[in-house]
Amino acid sequence: MDFCVTTPIYYINGEPHVGHAYASTAADIIARFKRLDGFNVHFSTGTDEHGIKVARSAEKAQMDVHAFSDMMSQKFKDMSQLMNISYDDFIRTTEPRHIESAQTLWTMIESDIYKSSYVGWYDPRDETFVNESDIVDGLAPSGGKVEWMEEESFFFRLSAYQDKLLEYYEEHPDFIAPISRRNEVISFVKSGLKDLCISRSKFDWGIPVPGAIDHVMYVWIDALANYLTTFGFPHDRAKAEARMRECVHIVGKEILRFHAVYWPAFLMAANLPLPKRIFAHGWWTSEGQKMSKSIGNVVNPNEIVAKYGLDAVRYFLMREVRFGEDGDFSADAISKRINYDLANDLGNLVQRVLAFIQKRDGFLRADYNFSESAKILVDHARELIAKVRPYIDKQDLHGALDTIWGLVTESNKFVNDVKPWELAKKNDPQLDSVLTALCESLKSIAFGISPFMPGTAAKIFGFLNLKGHSFDEIQNNFESQKLPAPTPLFPKEK
Ligand code: MSP
Repeated sequence: MDFCVTTPIYYINGEPHVGHAYASTAADIIARFKRLDGFNVHFSTGTDEHGIKVARSAEKAQMDVHAFSDMMSQKFKDMSQLMNISYDDFIRTTEPRHIESAQTLWTMIESDIYKSSYVGWYDPRDETFVNESDIVDGLAPSGGKVEWMEEESFFFRLSAYQDKLLEYYEEHPDFIAPISRRNEVISFVKSGLKDLCISRSKFDWGIPVPGAIDHVMYVWIDALANYLTTFGFPHDRAKAEARMRECVHIVGKEILRFHAVYWPAFLMAANLPLPKRIFAHGWWTSEGQKMSKSIGNVVNPNEIVAKYGLDAVRYFLMREVRFGEDGDFSADAISKRINYDLANDLGNLVQRVLAFIQKRDGFLRADYNFSESAKILVDHARELIAKVRPYIDKQDLHGALDTIWGLVTESNKFVNDVKPWELAKKNDPQLDSVLTALCESLKSIAFGISPFMPGTAAKIFGFLNLKGHSFDEIQNNFESQKLPAPTPLFPKEK
């Protein structure tokens, strides 16, 4: 079974920050879960390299725009590596395969394109056209300075898609998530769609419009087409269409409109299938304030990973707020999560069980003759993935972690109740089945956290002599064996 997930492709006019790392990590978790669950996954990310903003940034850096793009795109690749993002494809919009794909899409929607002139305001910060009524003191809603634009341009007949889009949202209630965002999109479309200007002619850092070389495509039509390119369009159209149908686009809330209104309209015009879902996540502030270069509070992924460790950062981002809501990144909040959830709950559980086995003689004597309470624990452990799956399928990553932590808490309680150290003192024959039950639980927990904290899960798999490649392994019983000595997972934060 095919499954696809995408991140937005990132603008390369600035350095990667925690917002980019967040979107990539969320998509990565979904991709990893689906792979462990037996799906044939295609996970794409990349960089959005055209447009006036990038051209100006290159100029400011006194660099050739191609060299500038190479340099900046590499920084986003490095960020992906830093965050352990398991993408299958990193797409750059300056690649020949993408230029061909975007131009093909353009020709496929040509019957809905006409030439006219655009007279109005433009916000280069967001690469978007702005209504007069949305401008306050010369600034667009993004805070960017608007510029007057008078150009002969190509327009896409977006207005013709208003009813079709509304009908589509109605018939596919899960197309846009979360629900509050879906409602916003519906009211936006109901308030009336104007035709969309889709070309620029005052600069040339973009993909040439087929048959009109003095025009380049508006950066958003170019950017959205990246999803088709990465799916193999236009050469393997059948594969691209199949992938599109199974695709979940992860996007930030401020770019939902482009993905949930413009993108489906382009696809409808081209007679191509629509993605399965568009999920809009929230924004992070830093210590209570909007992140900004001038305040100097932009959270840099390199710094937080160096300070807290990669898996702790990945965990924090997904656990601190429900996916879809806004969150605040603070040193205090991440330290608490590391100390309570990771060191106390998870780390302690792993140590309590595995260090205990080591202290005994390092042997796990597999014994599946469970007492009533051990059987309940193992049943819950073996059901864990089935309970987590629906959350992942709704992109409720926070709910998935909550469910996994339910088993962590239950296992710690089981240790407290059964007191293996007392069983050992009494030479109680139940000790082996108790430890086997706990290793079963650790195995399921390791699989559950594997998409979120792949490094930590790999350590636990190592402690248990497991491969950790597929959720199917959960149902196999342990054999009696010597286990390696565990090392601590999470040092406490001060
Ligand atoms: N290039 C476009 C996307 C084109 S997709 C076909 C773009 N790029 S971006 O680099 O500006 O933003 C990429 C993503 O980063 C967006 O989804 C945005 O929501 C996310 N974030 C940027 N700042 C953020 C936070 N402070 N917090 C969370 N995510 C944020 O838009």
